[in-house]
Amino acid sequence: MSAAIQVDGLTKRYNSHLAVDDVSFEVRVGEVLGFLGPNGAGKTTTQRMLTGVLKPTGGRALVLGRDIVSDPVGAKERMGVVPEVANPYMEMTASQNMAFAGELYGLPGARIRARSQELLREFNLWERRDDIAKRYSKGMKQRLILAMSLIHEPRVLFLDEPTASLDVESRRMIHGRVRELSGRGAAVFYTTHNIEEANVLCDRVAIIRDGKLVALDTPEALKSTFAMSQSVVVSFSRPVEAAELGALDGVTHVEKHGDKLHLFTAAPGALIERLAGYAQQEHVEIVSINTPGPSLEEVFVSLSSDTSRSGGPR
Ligand SMILES: Nc1ncnc2c1ncn2[C@@H]1O[C@H](COP(=O)(O)OP(=O)(O)O)[C@@H](O)[C@H]1O
Ligand SMILES: [Mg+2]
Repeated sequence: MSAAIQVDGLTKRYNSHLAVDDVSFEVRVGEVLGFLGPNGAGKTTTQRMLTGVLKPTGGRALVLGRDIVSDPVGAKERMGVVPEVANPYMEMTASQNMAFAGELYGLPGARIRARSQELLREFNLWERRDDIAKRYSKGMKQRLILAMSLIHEPRVLFLDEPTASLDVESRRMIHGRVRELSGRGAAVFYTTHNIEEANVLCDRVAIIRDGKLVALDTPEALKSTFAMSQSVVVSFSRPVEAAELGALDGVTHVEKHGDKLHLFTAAPGALIERLAGYAQQEHVEIVSINTPGPSLEEVFVSLSSDTSRSGGPR
C-alpha cells in the first residue's frame, strides 16, 4: 500500500528566508504522524502547503496519490483540515455550521443530518446543537471545528496544533477521536509543539527545526537513540538535603523538583538499593520511588542544542 501522504523535497521560501527547507517524509495509512517543533519551526507553513493553501517554492506532495499543486481538487476531496487559526461561524448554531460544512463537500441533506448527529454526539455537543457558536467555550468551538472537518469522512486529516491551550476534557476528546480515526485507517498529520502530546498520541514523530527535518522515528526509538541519561526519582517523608544524596555512589547530579529529587545515574538498579540503605540509616521513609525512562523532551533538547547534527531524518 502506498503512503497516504507522500512529501518529497518540499520547500517554502519567503523572500530570503527558508521557512521550510527540503522536507521529505510520508504518512502511512492508519498512522498518526506527529510534526513536532518549536514556534517558528515551519509547521504551519508545511501544513498550508500540504492542504493547498500555499504554493510550494519547490518539491511536491501527493495526498492519496493526487498532486496537491496539479490536482488540488482531487487531493482536497478526501482530506479534513483543522488550520492553526479556525473559527466556526459565530452567529450560526452547531447544526447550521455542520450543514454548511457538509454542503461545501456537496453531501446530500440526509447524509449531512446523519453525520451531524453522529459527530455532535461524539464531541459532546449534541445537547447544545441549537445554540449559536458565539456562546461556546473555546474547547467547544474547537471540537465543533474538528467535527466539521470530519463531516465527509476524510481518509487523511491535517491538524495544526488542535489542542493548543484547550481544557483537559476537550484535549482528551480530540486525542480519543484521532486515535479512533487512525484505528479505522485514516492517516493523520498532527502538528504540535507539545512534546508529551507527541509522545502519547503519535505512531511516529518528525522533529522540525528551522525549517529542516532533523529526526523521524517512533517515540520509543527516538528516546533510545538520543537519550543517554537515566534517573531515579525519589521522595521522602521529610525533607532531605539534595547534597547528601548527591554524595551517594554513582550519582552524577541531583535536581530538586517540588518534593521529588531526581538523581541522575548510569546504574539506576544499584542506586535504588543504596537509597533503601540510606533511608534505613537516616530513619526516613521513602514515600515514592521510580525510574522514568529517558523522555522525548531530552531528545528534543539534545536535538535543539546540537547544531552539528545535520544528518537529516533516519
Ligand atoms: N507569510 C509569511 N511571510 C514571511 N514569513 C513568514 C510567513 N509565514 C511564516 N513566516 C515565517 O516562517 C517561519 C515558519 O513559520 P510557521 O510555519 O508559522 O512556524 P510554526 O507553525 O512552526 O510556528 C517563521 O520564521 C515565520 O516567521
Ligand atoms: Mg504554527
